[in-house]
Amino acid sequence: MQKFQFAAPCLLGLEGLVADDLRRMDMENVEAQNGRVLFTGDVNALARANIRSRYCERILIEVGSFTAVTCDELFEQTKALPWEEFLGSLDAFPVSGSCLASALHSEPDCQKIIKKAIVERLKTVYRKAWFDETGSECQIRFLIMKNKVSISLNTSGEGLHKRGYRNNSVIAPIKETLAAAIADLAHVRPDSTVYDPCCGSGTLLIEAAYKALNVAPGFRRTFACEKWDWVSKEAFSSERAAAMQMIRKGIGFTGIGGDIDPAAVELTNSNAKKASVASRVKAQAGDIRDFKPTTETGVVLCNPPYGERLLDFKSAREIYKIMGKKFERREGFSYYIISPDEEFEQVFGRPADKRRKLYNGMLKCQLYMYFQ
Ligand SMILES: C[S@@+](CC[C@H](N)C(=O)[O-])C[C@H]1O[C@@H](n2cnc3c(N)ncnc32)[C@H](O)[C@@H]1O
Repeated sequence: MQKFQFAAPCLLGLEGLVADDLRRMDMENVEAQNGRVLFTGDVNALARANIRSRYCERILIEVGSFTAVTCDELFEQTKALPWEEFLGSLDAFPVSGSCLASALHSEPDCQKIIKKAIVERLKTVYRKAWFDETGSECQIRFLIMKNKVSISLNTSGEGLHKRGYRNNSVIAPIKETLAAAIADLAHVRPDSTVYDPCCGSGTLLIEAAYKALNVAPGFRRTFACEKWDWVSKEAFSSERAAAMQMIRKGIGFTGIGGDIDPAAVELTNSNAKKASVASRVKAQAGDIRDFKPTTETGVVLCNPPYGERLLDFKSAREIYKIMGKKFERREGFSYYIISPDEEFEQVFGRPADKRRKLYNGMLKCQLYMYFQ
């Protein structure tokens, strides 16, 4: 069976989690790099990685990598790659990418050269002078870093954070992949009770439920490569069936949400329904000032308002202060709060037991962890 070189780009700081996730899926030659994880596998691995990955942004197949410092080198080496193995004569293949610290620094120029080189290759193979590109779409991505060119196919299509349960969203929702990572770092277990007193659209609670139940995050969506002729339908159907078999049943997980905004509460409850975890995740309107856990043990996850404008900044810090009072040091309870505020611990009122740098998009944050 044909083996592929894959790359899984991810948010900075999540490379280790992504690598462990891929190893659990039995991927081969897993290697974490800055902002991405490389691995190898066959077409079943392609399906499995798309359906089950929790923390990475997409699954790419690297068609080739080489060094290029001139336009001619870029053109000739791109043309030498076996594009006909991946692209049919009707397929659409938009090209996009980026150049970092390289002699070839113009992204639009590199985009045009790569597109032209692929077209020239396909012209000789398919004996056609013109490609209408009316068939299925196969996005080509390039990355030129320090003169090393990597050209890949985006097998996922839309980013893997799009699980298919969050159509509507509040302002500043956390990305699903980052929420899943926080649930993992908080050691959410099959029987955990998880609280989020600022639940917004419910992402942290839903991702925590997915982890507890071992639900494959991509089980309800499709992926771009499922439309490609050479990708076997059987690989996707058997990997989907295997993922369904792995869902844990009869566990005690409960997610309890609160938010001062009734519209956010409604959103959490409807998103939980779309995510098929409505029996496990429930939210009610409430101010964090009245937060009072009702269980003996619990994991509290929180993505509070950050207050990026000056006035909001003050009220965000007011909430951190309230959290410090409400998130009491207590046997059986742990607290995980993500914030970009470097003075979070002083405002909260006690130093975290552990901190971990995470990027919420481009914003550098810390996950402040309190084990009691
Ligand atoms: C950054 S958003 C959380 C987004 C959420 N993690 C998601 O993925 O959708 C912060 C949330 O805190 C809520 N909030 C603000 N002040 C609050 C308070 N005093 N008590 C409870 N919730 C509050 C806001 O309504 C907002 O939904």
